[in-house]
Amino acid sequence: MSERSQQQTGRTAAHDSAFLKACRREAVPHTPVWFMRQAGRSLPEYRKVREGIPMLDSCMRPELVTEITLQPVRRHGVDAAIFYSDIVVPLKAIGVDLDIKPGVGPVVAEPVRTRADLDRLRTLDPSDVPYVTEAIGMLTAELGSTPLIGFAGAPFTLASYLIEGGPSRSYERTKAMIYGDPELWRDLVDRLADITAAFLRVQIEAGASAVQLFDSWAGALAPADYRRYVLPASAKVFDAVAGYGVPRIHFGVGTGELLGLMGEAGADVVGVDWRVPLDEAVRRVGPGKALQGNLDPAVLFAPTEAVEAKTREVLDAARGLEGHVFNLGHGVMPNTDPDALTRLVAYVHEQTSR
Ligand code: CP3
Repeated sequence: MSERSQQQTGRTAAHDSAFLKACRREAVPHTPVWFMRQAGRSLPEYRKVREGIPMLDSCMRPELVTEITLQPVRRHGVDAAIFYSDIVVPLKAIGVDLDIKPGVGPVVAEPVRTRADLDRLRTLDPSDVPYVTEAIGMLTAELGSTPLIGFAGAPFTLASYLIEGGPSRSYERTKAMIYGDPELWRDLVDRLADITAAFLRVQIEAGASAVQLFDSWAGALAPADYRRYVLPASAKVFDAVAGYGVPRIHFGVGTGELLGLMGEAGADVVGVDWRVPLDEAVRRVGPGKALQGNLDPAVLFAPTEAVEAKTREVLDAARGLEGHVFNLGHGVMPNTDPDALTRLVAYVHEQTSR
């Protein structure tokens, strides 16, 4: 089979899945479920195959990526797979000197603070990430009718790592650039938008059925500043992939005040953290978009009956939505009992089967 027809086959097989139907706001046989960070440290089989292999190295090995991406699908019976990678992979691929430090997160050797630093950020070419194309080809063949979600970090969140040099609580250097040198900031996020768009295009061309833009830390901004300094760059990313017709999901943490703007940026599905109930979120987002969320990931540490009660609250709040994809309000926490996740998938399916 030619590469192109293989990609088409992957997407065609997944076309009628509950996940893609919910994203398109069509009727579903049951509410689809997947979890952000479903692949990873909550799974013993993940820790086993990752033994001795640094995080970023693992993202560049297609067979390992395929295995890790499939692990939660096999174990939990989730309705979608999410590509195992990281938001900093495209930056690494264009030559930014960075690493993911266990227990810390991405650390950038030489932070981006000046116009001269910007020159180190060239555009991404598909040939920079051959392992992504290869892994997605292998994955879609294995996944059959289960859709694969591609993803990337949004310009603001990527910029925050590049400017701060690592994870941050208060984003002081990032905000210093936004307010102190808005022209440099705009050029930086515009360049990151091109890199992100190119990275998403590679994943869609290789066979991803949907994409999620993670603006994990956008909740640090007030709505007026988000609109002025961030929305144009994220909208550029969404516009760049609109022509493929694959659902585009937009997610951030602590973004209750930004939900309307995050929809406006061009998303088909808006991800909601656990702080805003879905019946209120839909009021903020407005009609014509599906919602994704939003069980507090920490609830999974409570007894099963409590998890089920909190899950019913989410499902009740989702009743009037045009489309609902069940997820956690943020990623799976590392110490989560994997069996609690398996039970949760079954519970959502059972409660929503029609
Ligand atoms: O299952 C999935 O969701 C797919 C894999 C995935 C990873 N990172 C793998 C990973 C996804 C979607 C991401 C996205 C990502 N990476 C985000 C956005 C999502 C979010 O959480 O808001 C962000 C902010 C990052 C940056 C990043 N990478 C952080 C903050 C960390 C945690 C550092 C730590 O050790 O506490 C990482 C590392 C990372 N990315 C791990 C995994 C499985 C853990 C590292 C390991 O296993 O050694």
